[in-house]
Amino acid sequence: MEPPLHAPMPGAEALAEPLRSRWSPSIFDDEHRLTRDQVATLLHAAQWAPSWGNSQPWSFLVAERGSSGHDVLVRHLSRGNSGWVPRASVVFVTATQVAPAPDSGDGKGWRGGDYALHDLGQAAAHLTLQARAMGLHAHQFAGFDREAVHDELGVPPWYRVVTGIAVGVRGNPDDVPERDREREQRERHRRPLADFVWGDSWGDPWAAP
Ligand SMILES: Cc1cc2nc3c(=O)[nH]c(=O)nc-3n(C[C@H](O)[C@H](O)[C@H](O)COP(=O)(O)O)c2cc1C
Repeated sequence: MEPPLHAPMPGAEALAEPLRSRWSPSIFDDEHRLTRDQVATLLHAAQWAPSWGNSQPWSFLVAERGSSGHDVLVRHLSRGNSGWVPRASVVFVTATQVAPAPDSGDGKGWRGGDYALHDLGQAAAHLTLQARAMGLHAHQFAGFDREAVHDELGVPPWYRVVTGIAVGVRGNPDDVPERDREREQRERHRRPLADFVWGDSWGDPWAAP
C-alpha cells in the first residue's frame, strides 16, 4: 500500500487499517482500470453490510469510464466535481429503496424507509474501506443532478439516488487543474469528541481519556 498522504490524523493513530489511512483524493489516474473481479469484490463488501431486518435496501449502478451510464453521470456533475470524478476508474451511483415497490404487498406495514439511508450509508462505508484495503482510493460525492441521473438511468420511483462513490488509484498531480491539486492538500479537520459525544444525558460531557 502506498504511503498515505494525510493519515494518520490526530486521534486516528489508534484506528485499525484501512480506517486509518482512508481519505478522499481528488486526483485519479485516468488510465487505470479495475478488473471485473475487483469491482465485484467492492460490491461484495457493500452486500455484506448489516441492514434493518436484513432488508438490504441499497442498489448500485456501476458506471465505468467509457460506459453509457458514465457518460450520463458526467453530464450531470456539479462544476466542482466535473474535473476529478470523470478520471476515476469506476463510479458507483448509489440508490436506496425509500418506498414499497408497487404490487409488493408491503403496503402500510413497510418500514424500510426509516432506515434506508442509514443502511445505504453503511454499505457505502464498507465499499469505501474495502477499496482502501485493496490499495485503491474512494471519494464519495453528492454534487450532481440526482433527479436527472435517476430519470436517465431508469431508476424506479421507489428508489432514491443518493450519492456517487468514485474509485481508482491516485494519478499524477501535474495532470490535473490547480483546483483539484489544491483540494487534496487541504488540511483535514474533525470536530472534537466533546462536540458530539455525551454521557448520561445530552449535553453532559462524556469523560474522554
Ligand atoms: C454524502 C457525501 C457527499 C459528499 N459530496 C462531495 C462532493 O460533492 N464533492 C467532493 O469533492 N467531496 C464530497 N464529499 C467528500 C467530503 O467532502 C469528504 O469526505 C470530507 O471532506 C472529509 O474528508 P475525508 O473523506 O478525506 O476524510 C462528500 C462526502 C459525503 C459522505
